[in-house]
Formats: sequence, C-alpha cells, structure tokens
Amino acid sequence: MFYPTDDLTNGEILLRLARTAEAMPEKRWLPAYYFDICLTDGTKIGACDLRIGHNDKTYIGGNIGYAIAEQYRGHRYAAQACRLLFRLAARHRMEYLIITCDPANTASALTCQIAGGQYVETASIPEDNEMYAEGKREVMIYRFDLTEGRERVLSAIMNRRSYRGKFLPTPVPREDLRRIMEAGLAAPSGCNRQTTSLIAVDDPETLKRLHAVIRPPVGETAPAAICVLTRRIIAYRDRCFAVQDYAAAIENMLLAITALGYESCWYEGHITDTDRIGEQMARILGVPEEYELVCFLPVGIAEGRPVEPRKKTFEERAWFNAFPASGNAADP
Ligand SMILES: Cc1cc2nc3c(=O)[nH]c(=O)nc-3n(C[C@H](O)[C@H](O)[C@H](O)COP(=O)(O)O)c2cc1C
Repeated sequence: MFYPTDDLTNGEILLRLARTAEAMPEKRWLPAYYFDICLTDGTKIGACDLRIGHNDKTYIGGNIGYAIAEQYRGHRYAAQACRLLFRLAARHRMEYLIITCDPANTASALTCQIAGGQYVETASIPEDNEMYAEGKREVMIYRFDLTEGRERVLSAIMNRRSYRGKFLPTPVPREDLRRIMEAGLAAPSGCNRQTTSLIAVDDPETLKRLHAVIRPPVGETAPAAICVLTRRIIAYRDRCFAVQDYAAAIENMLLAITALGYESCWYEGHITDTDRIGEQMARILGVPEEYELVCFLPVGIAEGRPVEPRKKTFEERAWFNAFPASGNAADP
C-alpha cells in the first residue's frame, strides 16, 4: 500500500511523486516511491527514491537514493529530501533506514551526516549484487533511527508534571526561552487567528515586581517565567476560540519545557481569579488593553521532584468505538 505524499514539503523544497513500484520478490526488490525533488516553485532540481522494508539488498544499496543536479548542489537539498522521506518511512512504521554511499563520494557521506545518520561500517559488495557488476566494490553504510524522535515526543508528554516546588538559581538561556516560546506559537489556533501572544521574563527586577502582586506566591524562585496573553476575538461566525488557542500553546510550551529538562506549572486559576492578579501583571509588563494576561509559567531547573497527582485509569476515561454500556463506565 502506498500513502499520499502531497505533504512532503518543508517550505524550501517539495517531493513530487513521479511513480511508485510494487515489490518484485523474485528480484528481492521492495515496494518503492520515486520522486522529483523540486523547489517550491516547481523547478526540478533532482530526484530521490525510498524503498519500503529491509533485506540484504537494502543493506548494501540503501533504502534511499538521491541525486541533485549540479547547479543546485551545496544547499543541503539532498539532506532535506532525506528528512522528508523519513516522514514517509515513519508512516510505513519503519523503525530505521539505511543509506549507503560510495567511499569516494564525500559529498554523499556528508549528506548522510547532516541528515543525522550513524556510520555503521564500510561493507564489501557481494558478487551477486547488481552494484558489483557496475564495478563497485565497497559501500559506506549509514543507519537512521526513526523511533528516537517519536519516543522523545511521547516521553515528554508522559513525563510532564506540574511542579510547584523550589527552583535552582541557574539562569535559563534566552535561546531555550525562545525555543519554548516558538513551541507555543507553533500550536494550532482556530481559523489560524493566532490569538495567543507571549512575554518571557528573565529580568530579576521585573520578576520581583510580578511576584510582588502574585498572591498566594507561586514559582517565586524560578529564574524565568513566560506570561501568556490572549485576544478574545471572533474567529468564525460568533465563535471565539481564544481559550482553545492559548490552551494548545500552553501545553506545547509545557512539553518543550519538559523536553529541555526544566519544570513548570500552568498557573491560570491563581492569576485569573476575582482578585484580577493577571491585570496587575499585565500593567507591570506594559501590555495593551486589548490583550488579557491569562497564565503564568515559571521556568527553571527543579530543586525537588514534582508530586505525582492521582490520575484515573485509562479504562475510566477512554474507550474504543462506543461509550461503555451503562454500569460498565466507572463513576467519575
Ligand atoms: C486551565 C488550568 C489552570 C490551572 N491553574 C492552576 C493554578 O492556578 N494553580 C496550580 O497550582 N495549578 C494549576 N493548574 C495545574 C493543575 O492543577 C494540574 O495540571 C493538575 O493537578 C494535574 O497535574 P499534572 O499537571 O501534574 O498532570 C492548572 C491547570 C490547567 C489546565
């Protein structure tokens, strides 16, 4: 089975499907996709292919082949094409890919390194392999682990916890704060209205002024914090998705914070209560009237450990195909 490939673009290049080829077991050929590598304006700059599955032939010949026309070399287009093919391979549940290159082809070896490959070995090409007949004798073998990224994302999701303890004074580099905010801004938003805005605070004086109004105090020892702003505008007909938008952005940021080794907590209840702490915080940060400050996320390295909240079991909250018949659903 071949999957749709229309999404194989990264804003710089796109892979245009030329053809697919079914497996030919008698030749030990695996199913394959063949693509033109194009700039986003459609100009063809090369070609690449992906073979699905593994056997002795793909170990020597690789799962991926690529070529870039001479005038377009030097832009890392081949490595970009490989990364797009990794997406397609992951869709086929492939856990790793092999790319091989001629030991004399340093440009191709560099592409493998740029695309994140691990050098495995330089292997001799067996005499019954077509490449042997072409005069080739050895290949450098690179392996690309496709499960690593998947596992990292899932582990950030499963390991995130609300941390309400003390933080170490170690500063959070601007670069990390920026990556966390970028993760927030990458979240989906209703009708793409992008109603969420963010202010990271790492200036100790400003943090002190914010903490002076947050009652009861939270995240006081964190060396940085991110304040989440929203604009409650209509996205579609009479629908305002501002809450959904900022909730998605906050969760993305909490996951990025976890992935980068920091801790945080979603403080919204504290600051949006009737005492309107969020409004006072917004004034300190010079936030214009049309924005509302709705959440405060301390960011830092934890001194202690988060408390594990009691979570209901999977069976109490999630089912397949239908809500369970009455009597089987656990009481909330
Ligand atoms: C909308 C929202 C508002 C929250 N506001 C607060 C808050 O004001 N103070 C607080 O200590 N935790 C707050 N939390 C964190 C929750 O208490 C926490 O997510 C929950 O207890 C589950 O724990 P966990 O995050 O470790 O899974 C908030 C979470 C959400 C989603």
